Amino acid sequence: MIAWLKFLHITTLLVWCGGLLLLPLLLARADNPVRAGEAARMRIFAHFGYNFCVSPAAVLATIAGGSLIFARWVFEPWMFAKLALIGGLVVLHTYVGHCVARLGEEGYVRPAVPPALLLSAGLAIMTAILLVVLAKPHLDAALMPDWLQQPLNRQLLLPPAPSR
Ligand code: HEM
Repeated sequence: MIAWLKFLHITTLLVWCGGLLLLPLLLARADNPVRAGEAARMRIFAHFGYNFCVSPAAVLATIAGGSLIFARWVFEPWMFAKLALIGGLVVLHTYVGHCVARLGEEGYVRPAVPPALLLSAGLAIMTAILLVVLAKPHLDAALMPDWLQQPLNRQLLLPPAPSR
C-alpha cells in the first residue's frame, strides 16, 4: 500500500513539477512567436497543459502525499518544513495559472513577475523540497514558537445557531 502511494506521489509530482518548470518557459516564448499560428497553439497548449495535466497532477500528488503522512505517521519537524516549502510551490502554481488564464483571455500580457524569475523560484523550491525529503534533517522542535508546540485549550469559535 505504502509503495503504491509513493509510486502515485512520485509520478504525479513529476508531472506537477515538470509542468511548473515548462509553463514559465512557454510564457517567456509566448510574446515572440516565430511562425504564423504559433501564438494560438501556445495559448491552447498552456491552457490544456495547466488545466488538464498540471493541476490534476498537483491534486493527486497532494492526496497521495497527505495519505503518506498518515500511512507512515511522519509528524516530524522536517515534514513541517517540507509542507511550508510546498506552500511556496502552491503560490507559484496559482500565479502561473493566473498568467496562463490572462494569456488565453487577453492574448499576450507580460507577467508582472518575469518568467525567468518564476522558473528560478520553482527550481529553488523543488530543490529545497528534495533536499529536505531525502536528507530528512533532524530539526529541533524548539525552533517552532511555543504556541505551535502545545495545545492552548481554547474554545473553538462556533458560528451562532440559526434563528428559527
Ligand atoms: C503536495 C504535498 C506533499 C505532501 C503532503 C508530501 C508528503 C510526503 C510524504 C508523507 C512522504 C513519505 C515520507 C517518508 O516515507 O518518510 C513523501 C515522500 C516523498 N516526497 Fe512528498 N509530499 C508532497 C509534495 C512533494 C513535492 C512537491 C516533492 C518534490 C518536489 C516531493 C518529493 C517527495 C519524494 C522524492 C519522496 C520520497 C522520499 C523517500 O522515499 O525517502 N513531495 N512525501
